[in-house]
Amino acid sequence: KDLKPIQVAYQNDFLIGNVASAADLSGVKLELLKQHHTVITAENAMKPDATQPTKGNFTWADNLVDAALAEGLSVHGHVLVWHQQTPAWMNTASGSPLSREEALANMRTHIKTVMEHYGDRVISWDVVNEAMNDNPSNPTDWKAALRKSDWYNAIGEDFVEQAFLAAREVLDSHPEWDIKLYYNDYNDDNQNKAQAIYSMVKEFNEKYAKTHPGKLLVDGIGMQAHYSVNTNPNNVKLSLEKFISLGVEVSVTELDIQAGSDGVLTEEQAIDQAYLYAQLFQLYREHAEHIARVTFWGLSDATSWRSANNPLLFDKDLQAKPAYYGVIDPEKFM
Ligand code: G3I
Repeated sequence: KDLKPIQVAYQNDFLIGNVASAADLSGVKLELLKQHHTVITAENAMKPDATQPTKGNFTWADNLVDAALAEGLSVHGHVLVWHQQTPAWMNTASGSPLSREEALANMRTHIKTVMEHYGDRVISWDVVNEAMNDNPSNPTDWKAALRKSDWYNAIGEDFVEQAFLAAREVLDSHPEWDIKLYYNDYNDDNQNKAQAIYSMVKEFNEKYAKTHPGKLLVDGIGMQAHYSVNTNPNNVKLSLEKFISLGVEVSVTELDIQAGSDGVLTEEQAIDQAYLYAQLFQLYREHAEHIARVTFWGLSDATSWRSANNPLLFDKDLQAKPAYYGVIDPEKFM
């Protein structure tokens, strides 16, 4: 409890975030959330399957969003368009792709309804998540690098652009809102994948600026940052600088670093993990001007989506690990 808050260490640099569910917004978890963070992401509650399980029937995460705001935490919206945790009806019928028109209409309605519902209670949205293949062989041809998902199969290779156009239309009709639109993906340290994402966002924004001078279609790129102790921080640096060179903001959206297995972390692994966290935060600090937010994907190793690999700053008993000290004071740690 008397640990230096991470948010204080980085308050002039970028927002510090974590995932939260409504149940996390009370007791010890709320204390830990508030002590160290300034923004939350719903780990599952705002995804398409949770939000619109059947056509036209919406379930909202208002409890979570309003409780977070009442505690002084901002909210990032995750996620509008994705190939996972998406109800089949949105883009398929009996296992076959819907027509382009039907799928596009479902996508546009989902985006508009969800964005208008949450309004400016969120600071940013992941408009499209994980549209790219893991390691594209010809990364300059970003269209060839697109994952052949149900959205892709129904709408075609412009589904990502269509999603951003729909989201941008919503923002255009609410000029009073200040909300950033993000493309979010993992394997962001893979240079082929980073190149494909770079090429896609560059093309979208250049095209959009022709009809909307000085405006962006995609405001930001989310680097999920699901890393491991073997991740090379130089590759992270290359990707980060590549994205920044597009003139968009970057956020680190789902940071965790797996180390060890079966819930066991040796001392050496814990130090390796802390060292990589320290290297990353030194890098983030160097580029703080262009980084809006750094969000961890879980509070403790007990509740991580990959808890067997001990990826977070706090252990299963909510005690700070060496990784925490790597984040808090990277220079001293190294
Ligand atoms: O809600 C059901 C529950 O009713 C059921 O009894 C239980 C049985 O398995 O499953 C519950 O759903 C689980 C859900 O999390 C909520 O806990 C799903 O099985 C499980 O697959 C789902 O995992 C989530 C995963 O996304 C699914 O894609 C993780 O919590 C979540 O951390 C993870 O987050 C993703 C990001 O959204 C996008 N980037 C990658 C990241 C990690 O995979």
